[in-house]
Amino acid sequence: MKNIAALLLVLFSNIVMGATTSHALEAANIDPDDTESLKRGAKYFADYCLNCHSVALMRYSRVGSDLGIDDVTLEDMMIFTGAKVGDLMQISLEAEDAKQWFGTKPPDLSVIARSRGVDWLYVFLRSFYKDESRPWGVNNEVFKDVAMPHVLWELQGLQVATYNDVLGDDGVSRKLISGLKLVEPGKVTPDEYNQVVRDIVNFLHYVGEPAKSTRLQLGKWVILYLALFFVLMYFVKKEYWKDVKK
Ligand code: HEC
Repeated sequence: MKNIAALLLVLFSNIVMGATTSHALEAANIDPDDTESLKRGAKYFADYCLNCHSVALMRYSRVGSDLGIDDVTLEDMMIFTGAKVGDLMQISLEAEDAKQWFGTKPPDLSVIARSRGVDWLYVFLRSFYKDESRPWGVNNEVFKDVAMPHVLWELQGLQVATYNDVLGDDGVSRKLISGLKLVEPGKVTPDEYNQVVRDIVNFLHYVGEPAKSTRLQLGKWVILYLALFFVLMYFVKKEYWKDVKK
């Protein structure tokens, strides 16, 4: 009984934690079978994320073979650290330095798409806004006081938050973010930026379970096989029992 109560508490606290955003998450609409999107995502990831975040469950060579990129191209495209194509996607950032610079270590992102979900990631990377009170001059609507700088600001540009005054249960009025507005345009249009983020999220989804597409494809054949086998066995059973008196 105690265990059940504890389980319920854990489940429930998750629901409560998930409810910190003021609006529903937008769907990332990724297409895990779109290899071109995954390739772009891998490139963006190497250019903008891999200096701080490792993907230590993944090897460069696996990305190469899964996405059809040869070793030479792969090296040009993703490896800037002198690592070999067969190496795991580690970073050279020391935990101690990271602590000093950011106050916390940038987490490994191998399974982030599974723990956070792709929709959250899609919204997170589009929800940085200007906040001079923060060390990097930005905050994030879905990750309050995030220690990560807005590394894609050149592409997206800078957003500011607009606020609503909301009266709390305690009678005190608080400012709640009602939306984000682009005030300094970036190098790409908002639609193009959404696609950049979608590609990165698609890549993170892929590294979270590289064999997922294969598994789903194989799954269809397994189900078909089981269905045919069932029919076959049905007739075998009929044949087998046909001489037995009821
Ligand atoms: C300059 C270093 C740096 C770069 C580059 C960087 N990040 Fe981060 N990132 C951080 C730090 C530090 C945190 C921890 C934030 C915290 O805990 O407040 C973080 C946190 C995150 C989180 C949240 C993880 C969680 O706790 O759930 C995600 C997702 C993320 N980063 C994705 C990315 C992606 C995608 C890129 C590339 C577009 C990127 N980061 C580039 C430093 C960086």
